[in-house]
Amino acid sequence: MIPTLEWLPEGVNFLDQTKLPLEETYVLATDYKQVATVIRDMIVRGAPAIGVSAAMGMAIGIDRSAATSLDALTAEVAVFAKTLAETRPTAVNLFWGIDEIRNLYNSLAAKNTPIPQIKSAVVARARQMYDEDIAACKQMGAHGAALLPKEGTVLTHCNAGALATCGYGTALGVIRAAIERGHKIDVLADETRPFLQGARLTAWELMKDNIPTAVLCDNMAAHLMSKGRIQAVIVGADRIAANGDVANKIGTYGVAILAKEHKIPFYVAAPWSTLDLQTATGEGIPIEQRDAREVTHANGKQMTPDGVGIENPAFDVTPARYITAIITERGVIHSPSKQSIQAMDAQIAPEPELATT
Ligand code: MRU
Repeated sequence: MIPTLEWLPEGVNFLDQTKLPLEETYVLATDYKQVATVIRDMIVRGAPAIGVSAAMGMAIGIDRSAATSLDALTAEVAVFAKTLAETRPTAVNLFWGIDEIRNLYNSLAAKNTPIPQIKSAVVARARQMYDEDIAACKQMGAHGAALLPKEGTVLTHCNAGALATCGYGTALGVIRAAIERGHKIDVLADETRPFLQGARLTAWELMKDNIPTAVLCDNMAAHLMSKGRIQAVIVGADRIAANGDVANKIGTYGVAILAKEHKIPFYVAAPWSTLDLQTATGEGIPIEQRDAREVTHANGKQMTPDGVGIENPAFDVTPARYITAIITERGVIHSPSKQSIQAMDAQIAPEPELATT
């Protein structure tokens, strides 16, 4: 399995995704500040992986703290949370991961639990979230596999695979699950400028699994759709609003419009932790603006004239009306809307039958 991140006694070990696919190197983060830097600099990226990384950042901060009183530790916990929360604004999993550990800490501190017990409890919870993330990906795969063509080509945008989670992947997990169930699928991966998650990361991990993959420039999907080369689209998500609007990597909205125009099903796969029921519509989702150098330079080489204006929004919002279904570990939400999401939120979905690989 691809070791996206790993909790070690020395710290959290991250596969450096800025160096892939040409180099497989690791970054060991030994404190919460280093975990925050790893998230900000996209050494680890992808909403679910960011969420668990943030939880591990909180846990490592608490575990490494020299505080001898709960008051002192509580003050430090606030600093850990603020530092991690300021890394990236769009993926709601970041805030979910921070809150999971902070809420556990607060409930234990409120009961005057001895600090050593609190430390082991938060570390255990962060490590459990790692396992739960992989299980959720497998459950999405089980729920979503049947939606993909028995034989055909699936387009994906950005990287929503093992590298964007703790393993297996969301959108790529559904593709893996379909192939495990005998579907004959090949993948077209949008290169996904400017950070090239598709060209670098999706291609790398799918080729490792011998899944037939081809990379295309982001402006080529329309042509291939018009030629009937694409039978379905599946992507991940960074935040899903209460009405079903989905924020994902910049360019996703354009692909959704194309898919609708060509009557191609457009699926989103995401864990429940990516749903933000506090945000009514996509309008309320903060869109990260990243450094202009991501656009002006490629592999460190300047491509644009000095001083030209640059736009670099890292995400966009696809309105719910463009989405055929949202695949979660709880089940599939067809024609996502406020009502269909509330209905899924109200019911506890049965455990799906997981493929025995
Ligand atoms: O900027 P990134 O690489 O963190 O953006 C990642 C995406 O947009 C993914 O599609 C999304 O986080 C889902 S990952 C399962």
